[in-house]
Amino acid sequence: MQEVTRYIQTHRDDFERDLADLLRIASVSADSRQNSETRRAAEWVAGQFKQCGLAPEIIPTAGHPLVYAETPAVPGKPVALVYGHYDVQPPEPLDEWITPPFEPTVRNGNIHARGATDDKGQMLTHVKGVEAWLNSVGKLPIQVKFLIEGEEEVGSVNLAPFVERHREKLACNAIVISDSSQFAPGVPAITYGLRGIAYYELKLRGPKQDLHSGTFGGAITNPAGALATMLAALKDADGRIQVPGFYDEVLPLTDRERAEYRALPTTEEQFMQSVGVDGMFGEAGYTALERRWARPTCDINGLTSGYQGEWAKTVLPARASAKFSFRLVPNQDPKKISAALQKFLEARVPPGIQMELVDHHGAPGIVISLDSPYMRAATGAISAAFGRPPVFVREGGSIPIVNTFSRQLGADVLLLGWGQNDDNTHSPNEKFNLNDYHLGTLASACLWEEISRLPPTKQ
Ligand code: BES
Ligand code: ZN
Repeated sequence: MQEVTRYIQTHRDDFERDLADLLRIASVSADSRQNSETRRAAEWVAGQFKQCGLAPEIIPTAGHPLVYAETPAVPGKPVALVYGHYDVQPPEPLDEWITPPFEPTVRNGNIHARGATDDKGQMLTHVKGVEAWLNSVGKLPIQVKFLIEGEEEVGSVNLAPFVERHREKLACNAIVISDSSQFAPGVPAITYGLRGIAYYELKLRGPKQDLHSGTFGGAITNPAGALATMLAALKDADGRIQVPGFYDEVLPLTDRERAEYRALPTTEEQFMQSVGVDGMFGEAGYTALERRWARPTCDINGLTSGYQGEWAKTVLPARASAKFSFRLVPNQDPKKISAALQKFLEARVPPGIQMELVDHHGAPGIVISLDSPYMRAATGAISAAFGRPPVFVREGGSIPIVNTFSRQLGADVLLLGWGQNDDNTHSPNEKFNLNDYHLGTLASACLWEEISRLPPTKQ
């Protein structure tokens, strides 16, 4: 292990240069104009494995390709599967970036670029940890498999069927994912819960074409107004979702969780300051942390209708649409939510409006047992690398495939986030702290050692 640590310490510059190379590739999975860049990112990741002497595969899917690689089997030892994603969210609004999103720039010890933390930088820590083992010791103490995908940011729709069809190939005891955050700078965390998601687009059509709002306004339903009314009906003034049955399966927070969250070193004032607001809104009866981590919600992600150009235009738009999504918690089922939502909205379509509800993607949330040998191994690895043990948190984001992994592979999921909450994921000036990048790499390398000391397994 000492040689591994030394390798990581002496290759910091190389690791940073490689991260910057990957960050220069505009692998925006949602944007088909970037398909060749997205492909290039897959090839780049495969190239990293090749450089370590592994034999990676680029596996085509109906969408963006998967990259798979594995280190040699170690009989009698557990197997770990590292999952990550090389795709990124769209970088817009571009004019709010201090330096362009695909021109990585280091400022104050942070590397700034789209995907820096989510997930290129975090994913690469595991590649570099394995590189360190292979280039110093020559082999790993356990087998590590890698599955790196290119569609996480658009719902991993092609990955779930792949996992179902390749359970043998992906067979493992622990699934290791670094695509989340630490609790705060200097306070590493293990995430034991993520929210699920159900993502929709509501399209409303009114008159056959845009109309003069003076000539026609007041006589027919305005689709933009109808959209606003229908979306507003989704929540009441207390932040409760109004779709019937929405809360039926919600797993409640335990008293222990509520007590533990209250003891975490943060205040609501700090939170408001960090996002730049002077007030908050959300489901009554819960703290902001509880609402973000363990309660379902609904957010509008985009609204489109009418005139938004220069000056003013008196138009009654013919169409209006919105993208919106629910964040779900265990044990809510996205399919049930879709059916209930369809009924709820249909009952609210005003006269003269045609509605279409597009169901983009959905995935359930997860809570992970803290009581497992793999959790203890991860706690040991993080303590060794970061110099203090992790706190246990839930987070509000979603990694759509985790539930499929845990059900199909029957393995423990370890969510070991190296990011920070203020890394600006999905927003302008995304960053990743380079020190966290190197500590994450070290923790990853230590994890394989910790896992190798666990009792032998059948697999
Ligand atoms: N890295 C995030 C997930 C995440 C965010 C975990 C915050 C923990 C805290 C991931 O890449 C992501 O953004 N996922 C999407 C999934 C969606 C597009 C289906 C998300 O949560 O919006
Ligand atoms: Zn993301």
